[in-house]
Amino acid sequence: MTDNADIRIPADLLPLDGRFGAGPSKVRAGQLAALADAGQSILGTSHRQAPVRNLVGEVRDGLSTFFRAPEGYEVVLGVGGSTAFWDVAAFGLVRSRAQHLSFGEFGSKFASTTDRAPFLEASSILTSEPGTRPTARPEQGVDAYAWPQNETSTGVAAPVLRVDGADDGALTLIDATSAAGGLDVDVSQADVYYFAPQKNFASDGGLWLGLFMPGPRTKPPPASQLRCCGSTGRTTAPSP
Ligand SMILES: Cc1ncc(COP(=O)(O)O)c(C=O)c1O
Repeated sequence: MTDNADIRIPADLLPLDGRFGAGPSKVRAGQLAALADAGQSILGTSHRQAPVRNLVGEVRDGLSTFFRAPEGYEVVLGVGGSTAFWDVAAFGLVRSRAQHLSFGEFGSKFASTTDRAPFLEASSILTSEPGTRPTARPEQGVDAYAWPQNETSTGVAAPVLRVDGADDGALTLIDATSAAGGLDVDVSQADVYYFAPQKNFASDGGLWLGLFMPGPRTKPPPASQLRCCGSTGRTTAPSP
């Protein structure tokens, strides 16, 4: 068996600037210096106090402007990267059945998250040959349509367009992890346009950011309305 640790990419094949394709970005020395300069004015202060709140506000405003977010869209941040967002979406955004376009590793992972969720119906998963992509189609009973705008594992991009003929209120959830900031988008075609910032935004990973269209399905219910479900003991939101 080959020992992977011994594999070396020849220097002449390495990309000159360290960023390549849609892989994780190089974090520039200037970024680290800026963090060090901010020092204790941010790190080690309370995340509820002005320095951190202002910084988060700057990120939210900056992304709204950058993506020309339509009136009312909110920028939401969460920890755990896009992978954690898939759990958030399976739990809080898909009501009963999702349709996924699965044309590479990442689209297929989100598909399997909703497909295996015991509180959802089996997902409708449309697949295609590697290097191609399937097209979403309206399906009765599907209340969320999901696909990556760029499938990082194959480099195949997919348009961000609502599904014509979808049930009323069906959500469009777009994974823009390797597309956001690189491919143009009309955010009004998605209810949630989410990504992790380790690609075009040249950040470290571990965070997810999403532009959420305002609406009953994309707004967290008040805690008083949360109820607990059956044997799983999971807390669920009531159906709107
Ligand atoms: C399209 C896409 N979706 C999701 C992910 C997973 O992101 P994370 O590592 O932030 O969970 C990646 C990571 O490369 C990705 O390219």
